[in-house]
Amino acid sequence: MKTRDRLRIAMQKSGRLTEPALDLLNRCGLSFRQSRDKLFLFGEGEPVDLLLVRDDDIPGLIAQGVCDLGIVGRNVLNEFKLSTTGLEAEPLNEWRPLGFGRCRLSIAVPQELDYEGPQHLEGRRIATSYPGLLGEWLRTHAVKAGVVTLAGSVEIAPKLGTADAICDLVQSGGTLVANQLRETEVLLESEAVLAGPLTLPVDERGDMLELLLKRLDGVIQVRE
Ligand code: PRP
Ligand code: ZN
Ligand code: MG
Repeated sequence: MKTRDRLRIAMQKSGRLTEPALDLLNRCGLSFRQSRDKLFLFGEGEPVDLLLVRDDDIPGLIAQGVCDLGIVGRNVLNEFKLSTTGLEAEPLNEWRPLGFGRCRLSIAVPQELDYEGPQHLEGRRIATSYPGLLGEWLRTHAVKAGVVTLAGSVEIAPKLGTADAICDLVQSGGTLVANQLRETEVLLESEAVLAGPLTLPVDERGDMLELLLKRLDGVIQVRE
C-alpha cells in the first residue's frame, strides 16, 4: 500500500459517538472541512483527516492500514480482537479511553423470568451482535448456551421467540424497559476509545500522533 503523509482517523458517520468525537478533536485544535460526498473531513490546519464510516467497520479499516487510527466503542474494538484471534491480523491497541459514549454490554432476560446466576442461562438461546464477547463470558462461567447472532434489533428477539435472553449495549436502560427486559449481568464497561495499531508508524504520521496524544491528554485531564 502506498504510504500516506497525513494521519487518517476513522470515526462513526452518524450515531452517538459522532458529535462528541468531533467536539473532542476540535478541542485538540483540529478543524475540518467536509468533502462533497460527506465521506471525508479534510484537516485544515494539521495534517489529520477523518474518514466517516459505520462504527463496526472501524477496527477492520485500521487493521488493513486504510486508516491509522479510529474513534470507536471499546465494545466494537474488543469484539473485533476476539473475532480475529488466531488469524494473521494486525493486532490493535486501545491508545486512550476518551471519556464519552459510556455504556455497558449486558445480559438481559424477560422481566418475569427469575434469574439466580449464570447457570440459569444453561441450554438457553441468547441473541447478540457480540458473539465473541458473549462466547468468552459463557466460557469463563462454564455455561453452555446457544448464541444467536443478529446485526440489530436484538431487544425484540425474546418477544419473537427466537431467543430466551439478549446480550446488548445498555446506556439509559430505556430500550430494556420498553421491551420488558431486565439487566442481569454486566460483561463489559464500555466508552469511546482511540484505537490504533500496537506501534506507531515511524514517519510524519507517528510524529503527528504523538502530538495528538499529548493534546488529548491535556483536554481529557481538563475535563475530568
Ligand atoms: C444501542 C443498543 C440498544 C440501545 C441501548 O443501540 O443496541 O438498542 O442502544 O440504549 P438505551 O439503554 O439508552 O436504550 P444504538 O441505538 O446505539 O444503535 P444500533 O443498535 O443500531 O447500533
Ligand atoms: Zn453499530
Ligand atoms: Mg440498538
